[in-house]
Amino acid sequence: MLKELVMKNRSCRRFHQEIPVQRETLEQLIDLSRYVASPHNMQPLKYLIFCDEENNEKIFSTISWARYIESWKGPAQGERPPSYIIMLGDTAIKDHFEREAGIAAQTIMLGATEIGYGGCILGSAHQDKLREYLKIDNRYRILLVLAIGKPAEKVVLEEAGPDGDIKYWRDKDDVHHVPKRKLEDIILE
Ligand SMILES: Cc1cc2nc3c(=O)[nH]c(=O)nc-3n(C[C@H](O)[C@H](O)[C@H](O)COP(=O)(O)O)c2cc1C
Repeated sequence: MLKELVMKNRSCRRFHQEIPVQRETLEQLIDLSRYVASPHNMQPLKYLIFCDEENNEKIFSTISWARYIESWKGPAQGERPPSYIIMLGDTAIKDHFEREAGIAAQTIMLGATEIGYGGCILGSAHQDKLREYLKIDNRYRILLVLAIGKPAEKVVLEEAGPDGDIKYWRDKDDVHHVPKRKLEDIILE
């Protein structure tokens, strides 16, 4: 059921780093994004795939992880993402990409979850560094980094309390809790 998949598809930030994701698998996930809605059907998104240690380390160094969990500096060696997809906007096609970027990113992450992987959409990557490290042409806007791998953390959904606090948090067993607003709080009368 779609709802089950959507609920299972949580942002995961700790992985079994030793379990690789094959390039073909990442290509299949990107393939899903070809079929999503796109304003005026312009399809301006392009992708880079990385699943090697050297580039992965470079990408990792540009990312800020889980800002609400201030004491945590991101996944340790051994639990870092084994692969990344970098989503680019091709300025030769158009010059703004925000709407299609989210639709495509969620579709890729749902596809990853469906086949037993997980990951995180990351908007915090330091763009200048990423462009320099990976030699990304100025023609492309860097939109999002998608970290993908075998999840090594437990993430649970919960309802946001009456105070409306939506900050995710970790309990003493390192379970990651994600408060979501109630249905009656998002449908306006
Ligand atoms: C566009 C976008 C950018 C995000 N950027 C980051 C990020 O830079 N670092 C991070 O740790 N999480 C990032 N996230 C993940 C969110 O923190 C996460 O979606 C939110 O905490 C809710 O958790 P859930 O995805 O499990 O529902 C991003 C999510 C989206 C949609």
